[in-house]
Amino acid sequence: MILEAEPPIPNEPPGTSSRVDVGKEDPVKVEALKDGATVLLQEPQAADAERLRRFFVGLPVEDRRYFRFDLGRADVVETLIRQAEAGMAYRVLALVDNEVVGHGALYFSHDGWQRHIGEIRVLVAPDYRGLRLGTHIIGQLFEEAEKRGVTRVVARMAEPETAGRKIFERLGFIVDATLPDHVKDADGNLHALVVMSCALDEVSRAMRDFYRDDNWPDG
Ligand SMILES: CC(C)(COP(=O)(O)OP(=O)(O)OC[C@H]1O[C@@H](n2cnc3c(N)ncnc32)[C@H](O)[C@@H]1OP(=O)(O)O)[C@@H](O)C(=O)NCCC(=O)NCCS
Repeated sequence: MILEAEPPIPNEPPGTSSRVDVGKEDPVKVEALKDGATVLLQEPQAADAERLRRFFVGLPVEDRRYFRFDLGRADVVETLIRQAEAGMAYRVLALVDNEVVGHGALYFSHDGWQRHIGEIRVLVAPDYRGLRLGTHIIGQLFEEAEKRGVTRVVARMAEPETAGRKIFERLGFIVDATLPDHVKDADGNLHALVVMSCALDEVSRAMRDFYRDDNWPDG
């Protein structure tokens, strides 16, 4: 089975995160959420497949409707993790009390005429929305994008995914195209595909400003 890969996000803001070295294979970043809770960001390994699948199937039906793949299937989730481990994409899990509460993916090409492009996807559990978790995940994806030489970041979403559009607009992405009927949701209904993008250096600056202008406790 071949699953596509996607793109990245910006620099971690000063004072809101720290890196915990737990070995080369398992880097962990600790981030503070707006309510003071602590979340760990780490790359998934094969053993994470079931808790990641549980996260996907536990999302509201209106989010699951726009999944690109059948993420309720164990074999699909295992393949996604294997592909990331093989360097075909970058994935990050957000963990609270060992449960997955968020996920981000960065898809990129190693060569070809889109080798400067990274595409990102982000999903946050409903109970954790509005707490800056999406922003932290995107920040981690931007860091990884930068390391891989990505200079332009793209986000594609179905038109009804309005929260996604808002978070990317806030970071300086603009809508490049709206492609009619390019998404068929899980119920078989057609929607426009919204393609947004931003130069990585611009979006990184926007993310630093985002944190600087914010007045949450450790911002
Ligand atoms: C989009 C999503 C990842 C946002 O995650 P989140 O953790 O709630 O985002 P944050 O708390 O970091 O939000 C940062 C900013 O984005 C904007 N934003 C995020 N969600 C928003 C919403 N529902 N309505 C309006 N603005 C929103 C706001 O400007 C917010 O800043 P503020 O809290 O100071 O107003 C989450 O809502 C989600 O998983 N949605 C379903 C899937 C989806 O649409 N994914 C995007 C496709 S790539």
